[in-house]
Amino acid sequence: MEYRVQIITVSDRCFAGEREDLSGPALAACLEQEGYRLLPPALVPDEQPQIEAALLAACAADAALVLTTGGTGFAPRDVTPEATLAVCEKLVPGIPEAMRAASLQITPRAVLSRAAAGIRGQTLIVNLPGSPKAALENLAPVLPAIAHGLKMLRSEGPQDCAAATEGT
Ligand code: MTE
Repeated sequence: MEYRVQIITVSDRCFAGEREDLSGPALAACLEQEGYRLLPPALVPDEQPQIEAALLAACAADAALVLTTGGTGFAPRDVTPEATLAVCEKLVPGIPEAMRAASLQITPRAVLSRAAAGIRGQTLIVNLPGSPKAALENLAPVLPAIAHGLKMLRSEGPQDCAAATEGT
């Protein structure tokens, strides 16, 4: 199944044209290689209402997966997790837990990511950090599990996870 994925870059400086968005294209290349179908990318400033609107638009466009990049840190304008939590109906804490655990092997600053993940309808939303390197380092360890989760979310895979993974 070729899932639709929406990438949303959250950055005041990229939105203002002061910095090139390198993270969105880096994530797009990675996901395309994995067989995902890319929706046109979105770029929004670090404003909660605009982030929420972009997330809702992605859900309305029937994206199976939404990846945000940026705005998960401690800067006063970092509000991507807050926007994500505002639109999600269910939380998926295991994804950011795994991302931080894996990234902790790379940098002690991994703990500074406040990234969240959750589900709205049949869409999984995952926050990633803003730099291309950090975004890919966070995504790589969870992408295989995400693919399995999307199958369940879209009712295209086994609904009984235990039976599906027995013996593995
Ligand atoms: N994770 C990895 N793998 N590599 C990194 O360089 N940077 C950390 C963290 N996670 C980092 C990382 C830092 S310094 C911050 S502040 C947070 O991600 C949040 O990044 P953001 O504000 O760009 O979203």
